[in-house]
Amino acid sequence: MKYPHLCEPIRLGNITFRNRMFSAPMGGTDITSDCCVGPRTPGFYELRAMGGAAAVTASELVVHPQTDASHMFHLDLKTPGCLASWTFVADSISRHGAVPSVELSHSGQYAGTYLIDKDRKHGLTQYGPSDWVRPDGIHVKALTAQQIDDIIRSYGESAALAKRAGFQMVMVHAGHGWLINQFLSPAFNHRNDEYGGSLDNRLRFARRVLQSVRDAVGDGFPIELRMSGAEFFEGGYDIDGGIAIAQGLEDLADLIHVSAGSYQFGFFRTHLPMFAPHGDNVWLAAEIKKHVSRPVATIGALNDPAQMEEIISSGKADVVEMARALLADHELPNKVIAGREDEIVHCLRCFTCMAERPATGTRRCAVNPLIGREIEGIHLTPAPCRKKVVVAGGGVGGLEAAIIAARRGHQVTLLEKKDVLGGILVSEQAIPFKYEMYRLGLTLERQARLAGVEVRLNTEATPELIEDLKAEALIIAVGSRPVIPPLDGIDGDNVIIVNDYYLRKNSVADTVVVLGGGLAGCECAVHLGMEGYKVAIVEMRNQLAPDCNIRHRPILMDMVNKYASVFLNHTAVKVTDDGVVCMDSSGREKLVSGKSVICAAGQVSERACVEALRTSAPWVREIGDCSRVANITAAIYQGYHAALDI
Ligand SMILES: Cc1cc2nc3c(=O)[nH]c(=O)nc-3n(C[C@H](O)[C@H](O)[C@H](O)COP(=O)(O)O)c2cc1C
Repeated sequence: MKYPHLCEPIRLGNITFRNRMFSAPMGGTDITSDCCVGPRTPGFYELRAMGGAAAVTASELVVHPQTDASHMFHLDLKTPGCLASWTFVADSISRHGAVPSVELSHSGQYAGTYLIDKDRKHGLTQYGPSDWVRPDGIHVKALTAQQIDDIIRSYGESAALAKRAGFQMVMVHAGHGWLINQFLSPAFNHRNDEYGGSLDNRLRFARRVLQSVRDAVGDGFPIELRMSGAEFFEGGYDIDGGIAIAQGLEDLADLIHVSAGSYQFGFFRTHLPMFAPHGDNVWLAAEIKKHVSRPVATIGALNDPAQMEEIISSGKADVVEMARALLADHELPNKVIAGREDEIVHCLRCFTCMAERPATGTRRCAVNPLIGREIEGIHLTPAPCRKKVVVAGGGVGGLEAAIIAARRGHQVTLLEKKDVLGGILVSEQAIPFKYEMYRLGLTLERQARLAGVEVRLNTEATPELIEDLKAEALIIAVGSRPVIPPLDGIDGDNVIIVNDYYLRKNSVADTVVVLGGGLAGCECAVHLGMEGYKVAIVEMRNQLAPDCNIRHRPILMDMVNKYASVFLNHTAVKVTDDGVVCMDSSGREKLVSGKSVICAAGQVSERACVEALRTSAPWVREIGDCSRVANITAAIYQGYHAALDI
């Protein structure tokens, strides 16, 4: 076994967990109108249990709707089917040998955060430890002693019901800025009663909640306490505060799960974005572990088995938890155990998963097409008859299609006109924070070869070749090419097409103009800025990266503001040796200076190639950028489903 510490069982309470890799809470989206678990949710959690995680935490069960009221999962006996729906969730996890856990939560002063109907959210009363007015104008009311007692009791009641439903552990959420965290935080708790002031008083609510849960579930039933090791905003507690909190609560918990930050004031800490190092929060768990005797879990952009093994073997933590990494590849733990780490599909930290919920009320993952469609079936059906399948184009969509078709038993030939697979993502190799995107191509290439796909590099798909190959099914995945605006000077030596940056990065001058403020342009500008270049972005629209998802965008915009100057409503007129001459919105011409110009004006589908191939086989499907320029999510999803249809 290559990762012995990661794969070693751990005992918490009277339960033995099969390894040290836990699936962190990720909210289901399938919430019925009476706040029960919908039919899609058991499958959502089941996937990670099948993938080998030792524990899978379902979330986020709101314990006291009367004072929380956000439209999230509840568990009560009054709603018909409610207990049954949670029982199906617990079953879906435990039948694969994982320990089912459920997160008990209360949003407190952020009640309604997840409500789609924002009018309803503003109609709610938000309760917190103290009266105050939130930055968005919402008045928070201090909870009364009676309400606090009710909430504490409801934690116990929910825990008892969860145990009855078959959950074998509960997680009490005391981090990320939700209610228990609000009581712990000197920034939000200004009470003068026994719940405010001194540390002992600020701990009192959490202690009573944990005691209420313990009374409900009995001895030996593991309780996981999720907390933020530090809050990371002014006025919040720091790591010393985190240590004191962990010490003050450890006698009531079996596992201290150290996350970081506050959802509302630092999403980039609670969910480390692609710009942050992997494991950037591990030090918090390591510090806390030095001061407590209970096992400690760590979390935060972890997905590398070697790094996770080191965390456990060096004693920084006893358990590693992953959220996004297990969406990207639910089989990650099984692959770690089997030493197949080169087959792990890594999370891109693109935030598609989190953005999809507010956008469409669903979950998706850019690199895992099963997320959100678990109920439709996660097992590949063997092809009823083996066909000759040709995939034209070796980008990630084509690779995904080839892998799935081959796994279903088809004889698959993949044609790629270049000498490398990965398509447009090959160009991401020079941008460190996008390395996972480049690596996606490498991983899928490995999977394709293992699945028995015959890969032909330097081979352009032509109708003649496809006829020679006697293709019975053809998947066209020939991608897109860069848009090159017809400007004077665009063909100058100082101009680099963004897709070629990895080949020409050594010729970039100290000052750079990025022509085009879409996602690719912004990310390249941030990268160059981080590397010390002076960067300007020229964008003809009135905003940058409008297509960027709503979770990644604010973080990206912060980075852009830090590392680049931005010229919106500026239309490029010509490129010179000194930069890009633009027309601003008032019609004035001006030079945006830069000795190098990176052209990032978007992509256009390779339609001519599609048209040439369209009738070359009896069954044809176009997927990915050649069909419509979109993103990795679309390419992978379409590739997977095209291969299912053959
Ligand atoms: C799609 C998604 C849903 C999440 N839902 C919850 C939730 O309901 N409750 C919670 O405590 N944390 C939730 N989180 C936060 C994760 O548990 C975790 O703390 C965070 O994603 C950082 O871990 P990671 O870097 O391994 O993704 C969610 C994260 C993601 C990506």
